[in-house]
Amino acid sequence: MQTRTLGTQGLETSAIGYGAMGISMAYGDGDTSGEAAISAAFASGVTLFDTAELYGWGENEQALGRAVAPFRDEVLIATKFGFTRDYGFDSRPEHIREVVHNSLRFLGTDHIDVLYQHRVDPTVPIEDVAGTVKGLIDAGDVRYFGLSEAGQDNIRRAHTVHPVSVLQTEYSLFERDVEQLFPLLAELGIGLVPYSPLGRGFLTGTAKPAGQYDDGDMRNTDPRWQPGNFEKNLAATRQLQQLAITMGATVGQLALAWLLAQGEHIVPIPGSRNPLRVAENAAATTLELTNPQLERIAQILPNGGYGARYTSENMPTWQ
Ligand SMILES: NC(=O)c1ccc[n+]([C@@H]2O[C@H](COP(=O)([O-])OP(=O)(O)OC[C@H]3O[C@@H](n4cnc5c(N)ncnc54)[C@H](OP(=O)(O)O)[C@@H]3O)[C@@H](O)[C@H]2O)c1
Repeated sequence: MQTRTLGTQGLETSAIGYGAMGISMAYGDGDTSGEAAISAAFASGVTLFDTAELYGWGENEQALGRAVAPFRDEVLIATKFGFTRDYGFDSRPEHIREVVHNSLRFLGTDHIDVLYQHRVDPTVPIEDVAGTVKGLIDAGDVRYFGLSEAGQDNIRRAHTVHPVSVLQTEYSLFERDVEQLFPLLAELGIGLVPYSPLGRGFLTGTAKPAGQYDDGDMRNTDPRWQPGNFEKNLAATRQLQQLAITMGATVGQLALAWLLAQGEHIVPIPGSRNPLRVAENAAATTLELTNPQLERIAQILPNGGYGARYTSENMPTWQ
């Protein structure tokens, strides 16, 4: 697996990571241990594993910690703080320290490789958040600082207190808004970890209409799955699939290769509970898109998918 460097503080990872959220939440019940999928990711060369306090309040971190225990020293664990149990925000310094110490215990490790603020907390100055993370880095509990869904001003202000190595936000063939932050990321030397890089699975050609997923699967209410948008997104995915076939690839691999082609500072973190799919996703690093292929993709989806990325009540606002 090729490696990439995120930020300028020395964070080097496989070019594709693994997102563990889906083993505990968002996409209905399934294999909530995730062990086989996580082992498959490591066997495929993946070294960056993403979790969060929010993903089950310790459940996801425990599952990830157990699964990576046999090869802990060869991988990087990223986790996140900043939500409350009723989906409010809490980035008060004492809360950050408490969450981090819980995360270390849940993960069964003595350090977190990348610590993200999951969402900006408008009641806590970002300088206080960055200063708290700096303290955790100085103490050896954390190695690198990340922000998720943060806007230009907060990224810049946080970076002056402690260098931000990586920004995590949604980015895929369906979701392009973060491209407006690319000049800032380049200026400050910050890496980008695209989440939901497969458009929550739509870009793998397996999407079903809203209402046909299990209870508790967010895609039943996701705007991109609603009538009107669904058919357009499906038609675009089918065209991408035809292009992928000419390359001997799957449409999911094409979607990941497209992200990798947008810049050397990018490391997507697709999630899957299925070991075979995990291996398929990791293999996308071997796919190099030519200019004509990139142009064809731009014709099919010039501005992203149809429909917003979240329902209005769940939409993160960059601050
Ligand atoms: N910072 C944030 O606020 C934030 C928000 C959302 C997500 N994230 C992170 O980003 C990670 C990835 O995002 P995500 O899980 O939302 O979306 P995603 O990776 O775009 O898509 C995941 C979905 O795609 C399916 N899938 C994956 N590979 C496939 C393949 N090769 N063929 C067919 N289906 C495939 C999975 O189903 P199966 O499991 O059935 O294969 C799952 O339903 C998360 O795990 C989490 O770590 C962060």
